[in-house]
Amino acid sequence: MIPQSFIDDLLARLDIVDVVGKRIQLKRAGANLSACCPFHDERSPSFTVSPTKQFYHCFGCGAHGTAIRFVMEYENLGFVEAVESLAASLGLEVPDERGPASGSVRSRSEALRPLLNAAATLYRQKLRDTPRAIDYLKRRGLTGQIAKRFGLGYAPEGWDALASVFSDYRGNADLIEAGLVVAGEAGKRHDRFRDRIMFPITDGAGRMIGFGGRILDRGEPKYLNSPETPLFSKGRELFGLWPAKDAMKRENRAIVVEGYMDVVALAQHGVENAVATLGTATTPNHVQKLLRMVDEIVFCFDGDAAGRRAAWRALENSLGVLRDDARLKFLFLPDGEDPDTYVRQVGADGFREALGDALSLAEFMVRELTAQAEGDAVEAAAQIVHRAEPLLRQVQAPALALLLRKRIADAAGLSSGEVDGLVGQAFARSERPRAPALRQRQPTGSLAALLLSRVLRAPVLALQLDPERVASLADDPAGRALLTVIGICASQPDISVEDLAGQLRESPHAGACRDAARLTRDLPEDVDLAQEVAALAARLADSSREAPPTDIAALDAAARSAWLAELRRKKGV
Ligand code: UTP
Ligand code: MN
Repeated sequence: MIPQSFIDDLLARLDIVDVVGKRIQLKRAGANLSACCPFHDERSPSFTVSPTKQFYHCFGCGAHGTAIRFVMEYENLGFVEAVESLAASLGLEVPDERGPASGSVRSRSEALRPLLNAAATLYRQKLRDTPRAIDYLKRRGLTGQIAKRFGLGYAPEGWDALASVFSDYRGNADLIEAGLVVAGEAGKRHDRFRDRIMFPITDGAGRMIGFGGRILDRGEPKYLNSPETPLFSKGRELFGLWPAKDAMKRENRAIVVEGYMDVVALAQHGVENAVATLGTATTPNHVQKLLRMVDEIVFCFDGDAAGRRAAWRALENSLGVLRDDARLKFLFLPDGEDPDTYVRQVGADGFREALGDALSLAEFMVRELTAQAEGDAVEAAAQIVHRAEPLLRQVQAPALALLLRKRIADAAGLSSGEVDGLVGQAFARSERPRAPALRQRQPTGSLAALLLSRVLRAPVLALQLDPERVASLADDPAGRALLTVIGICASQPDISVEDLAGQLRESPHAGACRDAARLTRDLPEDVDLAQEVAALAARLADSSREAPPTDIAALDAAARSAWLAELRRKKGV
């Protein structure tokens, strides 16, 4: 955290007129200065800057704040970054950001890791001692060697197998926090994972962060994952990343599949550069992480409807982070096959050959958009452009953006220029009616708190929220806290649960965050936070719009995506 005294000092030294004037053209208007508002679309100036109050305010959209807020909004920077940039402009150094709190939180999460390691060791040993589990893996075509490479194990049938490793099993709260033990009724505890093949999940540096466990025979759920813990966040982690690293670098390509078993089976057959999402959709964070290591990602999904949906989600979540020198591809397997069964049929060479036939991003996009368009040629073309618009808008890689526009235009029978014209018009339309309507909205406290509580457990989800919508909740302390969280996550997209908590603990939002955290205490262990946040965001969207014309809804999404994409471009991530 940056000390408040430094922020006060910084604001005292800065002149907001300079800060804003450096970025947009200001005109004198009496005691104040004015301009057309940079935050909404307008022809006559309703944006003012007050040199005496050191504030800006827009009468059109309600945007207002200090020099710091202006730089955050105008340059899409997080709070810390905006402060750093402004401090640098004055030749000042920002004092140490890491207070003692976040340090101790970090060491707390480090305290959980040995527990995971000890559990993994026990599970590996139990696998060696359990013929039934060994047989299962053999039946699935895996050798001892590959099981060793992935550190596979077996969680025994009993309720408290871990008690044999942890003498403080009944009293150690860390076991619960690490996701290994579940607290039941009347203070009773039991192992989370029982009678399951255990897949250790490691981070990019090979350190233990969680487990996935597959039921041996039949049972529900088939796969059980660690809950979100200070160490483990599904939206940011990929199974198999560590063991796949060398092969990924060697081949300059990553294969993304859906299942644990797919990754292991591919490796067994010599395709070693595969990773899996952990029962969630592919997130921008996943894609970013992979694109730091390779130039090509092939998404390999089932050919059924669910597979196509998953692929489309992956496409949507990738567009904003793509680079011109990177490629995305989509491989759909024959009906009823997954990478595990397919590689067993065709072998590594056959599988690599299939990868060569994968659809390019443009091919997949055009194919899906065309397939979904209905009606006569004119109607279909209009739908293609309409649906492509929010997607195209996200693409920051210039050459790719251009080429995709061309392909969409071709598909719709238009020229690229015509498509650009449509996209531009639509964007302008979406800007005007939106902003003022939003800012008058009444606070809905519980919604803000619910959103905040989920985002605190999975910070990456903050980036899915539209800050402008969240701003309509700013009368609620939880809404303000949520805005701060979005700001923090925007500037530090990889921030962990515990670092975020550490930063907030020292902030004015500590109370609101503590209250919100209570709301997730009783949440089922393996709830899908991403889905929860999406549902809450939809409620927010509903509550912040009167009668939404459907195309405005799409355009809202476009504006949000554009905001995020812009943000990512600025961050160079
Ligand atoms: P699938 O149901 O497609 O299973 O789940 P699979 O990978 O083919 O598994 P096998 O071959 O039957 O062993 C794909 C992925 O979805 C997540 C897991 O990450 C799984 O690997 N999943 C699935 C869950 O998290 N929970 C479930 O109950 C099922
Ligand atoms: Mn399978």
